[in-house]
Amino acid sequence: MTAIAILPHVNAVLNAAAACFLMAGFIFIRSGHRDAHRAAMLGAASISGLFLISYVTLRFYAPIFVFQGLGAVRIFYYIVLVSHVALAMAIVPLVAMTLVRALTGRFDAHKRIARWAWPVWMYVSLSGIFVYLMLYQIYPADMAALG
Ligand code: HEM
Repeated sequence: MTAIAILPHVNAVLNAAAACFLMAGFIFIRSGHRDAHRAAMLGAASISGLFLISYVTLRFYAPIFVFQGLGAVRIFYYIVLVSHVALAMAIVPLVAMTLVRALTGRFDAHKRIARWAWPVWMYVSLSGIFVYLMLYQIYPADMAALG
């Protein structure tokens, strides 16, 4: 297996790790642990940054795979994929604004935007895992194309 062929699996692990940090960050703030919330959210942002680098590298070298499933599952897969890609683009400025507001101490403004950023970010992470499972594990694409 080449380095590029490993990237889809690395990306799925990074997505799963980001979802865990997001969940932890949410639980921390709801239980009043602000420092732990800060650490978990900065962790989630770092992991998502690594994901972005890995994802762009994969897209640069690998073809876009056509989903192998047919019928209703195919329609469902593409609905999730399109919503995942659209929200993944929207989440980048949303997360940046949420972070800037928190790091500059504007916590009321932070809280207002965070109520959107957190669920959208979580959806993007979980739907990314779903797309990975469907494309590479349940209806495997032809990995030979990755070398
Ligand atoms: C993009 C990353 C972040 C996201 C998605 C996020 C998400 C959230 C969420 C969902 C809440 C709870 C809002 C509610 O009660 O309904 C919150 C509150 C809070 N966050 Fe963050 N957070 C992030 C980064 C940070 C960072 C880096 C810090 C520290 C510098 C921080 C400090 C706080 C504080 C202090 C509150 C409580 C505000 C209050 O109750 O007045 N957050 N955040």
